[in-house]
Amino acid sequence: MKNHPVQFMRLFCGSVMVVLMLAGCSKQSINEPVTATSPSGALIPKSPGTIIVPADNPMTAAKIDLGRHLFFDKQLSVDGSTSCATCHDPSGGFSDIRILNGSMASTSMGFSNRMGTRNAPSLANIAYNSIFTWDGRFKSLEAHAQGPIFNSLEMGNNFSNGRDAAADTVSSGYHSDPGGNDTLFLFKRLNNQTDMAGKTMPQLFTAAYGSGSITMWKIANAIACFERTFISTQSTFDRFNNGDESAYKYNPQALHGYELFTDTKKANCISCHSGYNFTDQQFHNNGIGAGVVHDSGRMNITKNSADLFKFKTPSLRNVAVSAPYMHDGRFATLEKVLGNYNVGGTDSHSANLDSKIQPLNLSKDDIADIIAFLTTLNDDKFTVNPQFTNPWGK
Ligand code: HEC
Ligand code: HEC
Repeated sequence: MKNHPVQFMRLFCGSVMVVLMLAGCSKQSINEPVTATSPSGALIPKSPGTIIVPADNPMTAAKIDLGRHLFFDKQLSVDGSTSCATCHDPSGGFSDIRILNGSMASTSMGFSNRMGTRNAPSLANIAYNSIFTWDGRFKSLEAHAQGPIFNSLEMGNNFSNGRDAAADTVSSGYHSDPGGNDTLFLFKRLNNQTDMAGKTMPQLFTAAYGSGSITMWKIANAIACFERTFISTQSTFDRFNNGDESAYKYNPQALHGYELFTDTKKANCISCHSGYNFTDQQFHNNGIGAGVVHDSGRMNITKNSADLFKFKTPSLRNVAVSAPYMHDGRFATLEKVLGNYNVGGTDSHSANLDSKIQPLNLSKDDIADIIAFLTTLNDDKFTVNPQFTNPWGK
């Protein structure tokens, strides 16, 4: 246990205790440098490992470029109003941040101002996931990509004609509007465009697949390739975790927050938000209660009452820029999120409440420190990456 962070923290606290007296670690002045590096054998892996790429959809530069065009293309929606990026904004780690502009409620809004029932999650490091959406009903990015295009509350296309059986590997449970446009209208809209550099869709499809014809299978595969480039590895936390002493030098709050987060006897967040992306990819009820929408979560898929109110643990990378929070976006701030955990779940009588959700008795300073730590998961190079700009310019 030589390098266990608890031990390490005690040493660290001890060495500054003379200065701090009764104040405790978290009260240390922000301007006072700390020389601390993440202990080796850290609880969170130092690197993300290998992304999951299906054998039949290898990544190529041309497919990624086509995928970027499709991801930002509002013509993918039935009325030309909504692209994937409308709800998955790169500056919010590819989450729906429109609530921050005061333009909407806390769940994601689709074409024609239709309100969905869920909040769009961040897509940072989505390439490492093996299960998708809050209730986990998709097993690959390829299978998922057609979902929003044909969802009657998202992009609204009707798939009664021309949907590719090859790409329709999962019964999606999505419904489209009777009488809405069909896939052929969708392809026509896509074809009638030229990007800012003068490229046309047939040119982009030809570069990616050798032929300019459009199919849903090609669309889904190209979008999935682009999504696999959403790699976030350059946060302040990553520098700290890889032993860069300067990373938390002027941020003792974050250091203490990290300690609380990873300590199984303190905040114990790591018991679910584990691994490089801070998610165990499992389903839990974290005590927030049913909410207005009364979403059954994982039980929608398994039909097992033991899964009622369970949702997939979300990644916490770039979490400070991806408000609002939870599957229904009910919390606007991280303070509110921490408030839920500190009382052991705001709805502690809720069915299937996870046994790891217990009152934490964190002080106000502890909560501020955990938030300071979460903020160091922001990766500015990721959120403003020029490879994630809109090729249509609108
Ligand atoms: C109207 C807003 C909206 C649009 C448009 C939209 N999404 Fe989403 N996205 C969501 C919501 C809400 C969820 C959560 C869905 C759920 O859990 O059922 C989601 C979930 C996802 C996920 C799963 C994330 C995870 O962590 O499991 C991926 C991947 C994704 N969207 C990609 C896309 C792509 C690609 C497009 C365009 C083809 C798109 N989205 C269009 C709102 C949107
Ligand atoms: C029992 C497992 C579990 C534990 C322990 C846990 N979480 Fe969570 N966390 C979840 C699940 C599941 C969700 C999504 C719940 C939902 O939307 O209904 C979530 C959501 C969140 C979110 C919202 C993220 C987003 O993008 O919407 C944040 C932030 C968060 N947790 C932080 C923490 C912190 C900090 C701790 C420790 C104090 C913690 N969690 C402990 C399982 C857990």
